[in-house]
Amino acid sequence: MSAQGSIPQLEDLGDLNGKRVLLRADFNVPIRDGAITDDLRIRAALPTISWLQEQGAQVTACSHLGRPKGKPDPAYSMDPVRARLAELAPGVELLENLRFDPGETANDPAFVAKLIDGQDAYVNDAFGASHRAHASIVGPPQHLPSAAGRLLANEVDVLLGCRDQPRRPFVAILGGAKVSDKLGVINALLDVVDSLIIGGGMCFTFLAAQGNRVGASLLEEDQIDTCRRLLESDKPIHLPSDITALGPGGKIGDPDAGGEVRQMGTNLPDGWMGLDIGPGTAAEFTDVIAEARQVLWNGPMGVFEDPRFEAGTRTVAEAVASCRGFTIVGGGDSAAAVAQFDLADRIDHISTGGGASLEFLGGDVLPGVACLAEA
Ligand code: 3PG
Ligand code: MG
Repeated sequence: MSAQGSIPQLEDLGDLNGKRVLLRADFNVPIRDGAITDDLRIRAALPTISWLQEQGAQVTACSHLGRPKGKPDPAYSMDPVRARLAELAPGVELLENLRFDPGETANDPAFVAKLIDGQDAYVNDAFGASHRAHASIVGPPQHLPSAAGRLLANEVDVLLGCRDQPRRPFVAILGGAKVSDKLGVINALLDVVDSLIIGGGMCFTFLAAQGNRVGASLLEEDQIDTCRRLLESDKPIHLPSDITALGPGGKIGDPDAGGEVRQMGTNLPDGWMGLDIGPGTAAEFTDVIAEARQVLWNGPMGVFEDPRFEAGTRTVAEAVASCRGFTIVGGGDSAAAVAQFDLADRIDHISTGGGASLEFLGGDVLPGVACLAEA
């Protein structure tokens, strides 16, 4: 049975004319200075919204935004999202940030009751949040007729094929800031991939585990031992062999502040901060990616928002775009990178889920998908 067969679809909700539908979306979009910098996740929910509206349903959407600490915080208000949504899908009500209430992440039944009050049906289109057993994800399917939205159903369909019949060699590329965020999934991925490429901020903890000096780069000291164990895996883990670093006095995102930028090996002097993989590493990673027949990329190779440190991410993005194999890019930052480099239409599947697509391909059953199947 296909995944689509086992998860209720929109059509399974029956007649929705005049009914109220609660839509859990993942509108956790990047926002800078109050402006949305990439609205992919909002646009990705439109097929579901317009289908529901065509059926005559009244849609109430809800989402989290960022990680506010269980109380209202203007920095994480849904206002910018509400404004964009009103342009793209007029007539949809949008609740305030779910994480302003501590009941959301705690999966509090009282918060679930509040969410479903007055609603006739529930649709989960928040693939990117479906690895979280939070109230708005796992609560409503226990009480309301529930279904997967188009976006979630499509993600599950595509990723299930990649998980159950991976084309080989299967190469995963991981970047981004934190090893600790991705530890569990690195372990799981090592069981399913043929090799792993690691760049981005997290590479420095791995480099430190190999005995390198990482200067002022990001380092999670309490993860060094874990990284050392991961490096003993029988699957190849490709780490950078050169680094682009910013010298003392420099500021990320502010070239005018001064500070020297230099290509270095893997030992950085005190005060130097590694902010991108070097050109040699980018070339080595390109060779590995070119041989792959299935690629999963999550997390940039450096601070690509700063033009001084975008080259590594750009080269890897180009390598993924040129790869003959099936390519998946997941996570807001990597999706933004392929968009910035104008490569999005050369990627086979841009997932709206970062952590969710990693956990899915690592073999985990996502709570949000499981509870729909059981609904
Ligand atoms: C994401 O951006 O990864 C999803 O929206 C989930 O957000 P979270 O990692 O804060 O739970
Ligand atoms: Mg995340």
